[in-house]
Amino acid sequence: MREIFRIKGSGGKKSLSGVIEVNGAKNAVLQAFASTILFKDKVVIKNVPEIEDVKRMVDLLRTMGGEVEKVGNRTYSVCFKKKPGSEISEDISKKLRASIVLTGPLLARNGEVFFPHPGGCVIGARPIDLFVDGFSKLGAKVNFNKGKYEIFADNGKLRGSEIFMKNQSVTGTQTLMMAGVLAKGKTVIKNVALEPETKHLADFLNSCGAKIKGAGTSTIEVVGTGLLSANGKFYNTPPDRIEAGSFLILGALCAKNLLIKNCDPTWIESLINELSASGLKMKIGKSSIKIIDNDRIPNKIFKSANIKTHEYPGFPTDLQAPMVVFLTQVSGESFIFETIFEGRLNYAEELKRMGADIRVWDPHRATVKGPTCFRGREMESPDIRAGLAFLLAAIIAEGESIIHNVYYIDRGYEKIEERLRDIGVDIKRDNLKD
Ligand code: EPU
Repeated sequence: MREIFRIKGSGGKKSLSGVIEVNGAKNAVLQAFASTILFKDKVVIKNVPEIEDVKRMVDLLRTMGGEVEKVGNRTYSVCFKKKPGSEISEDISKKLRASIVLTGPLLARNGEVFFPHPGGCVIGARPIDLFVDGFSKLGAKVNFNKGKYEIFADNGKLRGSEIFMKNQSVTGTQTLMMAGVLAKGKTVIKNVALEPETKHLADFLNSCGAKIKGAGTSTIEVVGTGLLSANGKFYNTPPDRIEAGSFLILGALCAKNLLIKNCDPTWIESLINELSASGLKMKIGKSSIKIIDNDRIPNKIFKSANIKTHEYPGFPTDLQAPMVVFLTQVSGESFIFETIFEGRLNYAEELKRMGADIRVWDPHRATVKGPTCFRGREMESPDIRAGLAFLLAAIIAEGESIIHNVYYIDRGYEKIEERLRDIGVDIKRDNLKD
């Protein structure tokens, strides 16, 4: 049986309304699960989204000897009573790029780690040279043998050192920061990623005994402390800014009034800024965004935009595909410059088949002319974010669309069809017999 989404499009009408709540962030909670390896006691993680990537991470921790339990609604506990295994399962890691963040805490705790090149969404080359270079700077020896990395800390213990990251890698920053917690002496990491989930993680680790300074700025300093103790403290997963941003784009496209609750608008300022410049009326609260009287403004009145994806606080690459769907509906020509991943415009062909006027100039650049009408189609979700973009496109299209490969959407968005139905989307999950 294969699961699909069937969506009856609104044909461009702005018919959605109501309240939609944002869940905990995928790209925060996965790292929080990985950080449990740095602890000598049980860590409780709250506001966990029930998504496929979390299930994979839980499976992975269990293969390494972690005791992972669901202890309440959206609440998990993780405990490594004994030293974790040093091997990251090939089967799971091939499906989950985020498995790479386990390498830092494991190498730092065990003095060794073995793992394959991680898999995940096909959105570009996704090298891991920054991780490997960072580990070498911390005194580790790296071998690549029969498709597997085998990394050993010198004398079983990482040594604090200075690392300059040539690219601002999000998971690279988090991995090396966590490695620094159990390294000997001081680790200084320069040109790090500024994503707010990193500071959120650092704040939690500090509350449990770590000594991390500068998270959220371009240089992070970590003084090694030894195993941390949660001692009853819990990690509260922050709201998913990419989910919040996706709902905001959905609202801009086809809601009359929409209240997006449980989000941190300061974490998606770049998107709010673009949509506001385009003409969308929003009321920004402390933890909510309200779209007001949007049905009074036809989409063709919204202005086009030039979008350049950038590390935080710039425009997130994870919102680029949903934003392009918005730009197909507004007046004029927009320009997209995807600077982070070279495979993240591949979805454009499918949108063109639905009626979009998109020209992809090279793997990083495209122009979009709007407004265009979309026709419903049958399509395959290629990755989490493009899958969500196809959902948005199907919602505004004329007629029915079928989306295959919904696993990719489930990897990042919990029960998306139920939440969309609550605000008026005509969507159902169906099974196809093989
Ligand atoms: N890069 C290198 N060498 C490395 C690592 C990265 O050159 O060793 C390059 C990449 O090729 C890319 C750039 O650095 O050009 C940035 O990649 P980054 O390492 O920041 O990406 P990531 O950490 O693998 C995280 C998110 C992604 C999100 C990116 C960018 C997690 C688990 N994943 O990936 O999320 O797109 O940051 O913001 O946090 C998604 O959720 O759909 C997703 C792909």
